[in-house]
Amino acid sequence: MSDQRKSIHGTWSSRWTFILAATGSAVGLGNIWKFPYMAGDNGGGAFVLIYLACIFVIGIPIMLGEIMIGRRGRSSPANTMSFLAKEAESSQAWTLLGATGALAGLLILSFYSVAAGWAMAYVFGGFQETSAQAVSSEFDKFLADPAALLFWHTLFIILTVTIVARGILKGLEAWINTLMPMLFIIIILLCIYAMQTGAFLEGLAYLFKPDFTKINSDVLLAALGQAFFTLSLGMGAIMAYGAYMPADQNIGRTAITVAALDTGVALLAGIAIFPIVFANGLAPTEGPGLVFVTLPIAFANMPLGVLFGTLFFILLSIAALSSSISLIEPGVAWLVESLKTKRAYAAIGLGIFSWILGVFSALSFNLMSEFKLFGMNFFDFTDFLTNQIMLPLGGIFIAVFVGWVMKKKDVLDELQIEDGIIFKSWFFVIRFVAPVMVAMVLLYFFI
Ligand code: PHE
Repeated sequence: MSDQRKSIHGTWSSRWTFILAATGSAVGLGNIWKFPYMAGDNGGGAFVLIYLACIFVIGIPIMLGEIMIGRRGRSSPANTMSFLAKEAESSQAWTLLGATGALAGLLILSFYSVAAGWAMAYVFGGFQETSAQAVSSEFDKFLADPAALLFWHTLFIILTVTIVARGILKGLEAWINTLMPMLFIIIILLCIYAMQTGAFLEGLAYLFKPDFTKINSDVLLAALGQAFFTLSLGMGAIMAYGAYMPADQNIGRTAITVAALDTGVALLAGIAIFPIVFANGLAPTEGPGLVFVTLPIAFANMPLGVLFGTLFFILLSIAALSSSISLIEPGVAWLVESLKTKRAYAAIGLGIFSWILGVFSALSFNLMSEFKLFGMNFFDFTDFLTNQIMLPLGGIFIAVFVGWVMKKKDVLDELQIEDGIIFKSWFFVIRFVAPVMVAMVLLYFFI
């Protein structure tokens, strides 16, 4: 049974560690960089409401399923799927779900690394400019400089590969423990700053007052994709981490803890950012640059702002790293298991793949800005393809696998739970609600 099978990559040393690692994967640029600008681009309150609904109704149940699959399979997502498909006497084609998930992770890493590079560059941001105009023209100048973007992108990939090459179990445990709470504290500080900008209520209203006329198929899909992205679902990251989870840990409680922490950070980031947007006459539809043109204004205006600003972007870069390692881990773990590749070579090889694609993303802000795929530049296209198509599709298949393919007694056995009301509700969501709703949003968007 599952507790006799052990992952060859190791097991987390305590029950806390899985929560920390999964939270490290979940909390990242998705919360602090992406959530605010997605909310701004998609009309604020209506987007946030649908996003929250997606987290609770679809995200948490699927996260439970993904952790459960991972822990039962105890291998890389591809091999886990192959093993569990055999156990369920189903087709080996399920292995493909693990493989395409690993590919999605590498595609995400390619543009994630470019944005993480911005965060690293802002460690040296200076935070002297107090006017919105100066701050935003600085960001534009930065984007126009291909050499700078490529430098930071390359550095971020090297850092990611280095940590993964050494084995994520060693790399992670120690620092997420102390650094994540520090990031949390600075975000709270930013919220306090936002309270006295004079536009706090306006910011809150923008974020939480839904305007239902703004809901359309684009907004629905954007909110759904963001829910998958922010919880690291649909591509095997959480599955890969689940494989290292001790057998006696309660999966349900763990999933809820991770989702709550992740959602809390995203909402606080929004609460900090939008008052600054309105107080400084900026547009909420600023796009991917939103945090980089708002927070530096706050840091320039607050006491000890240079210190807090520097620290904030250091911590944000580290939060991005603890996410990026989980983007590459499914592929690396598979190469190590199946092709007996050395961990370091696997990490380097896949890192180079993401780096090359990321070069096009970095250049899409300057030299290649004219190059469009379906009307989007390369950065936006990779983002759209992964977050709004590949992750939700992955989510449907994960739900179907847990709900319809695995034997119910195996599911119960792995969750160590009674076949009572809690299990029955979750199982109903996994079998019907989650796959049908995700499929409907995708279909609605394309038709
Ligand atoms: N959840 C991470 C973030 O919010 C990104 C991520 C997506 C990580 C998918 C792993 C898998 O930044």
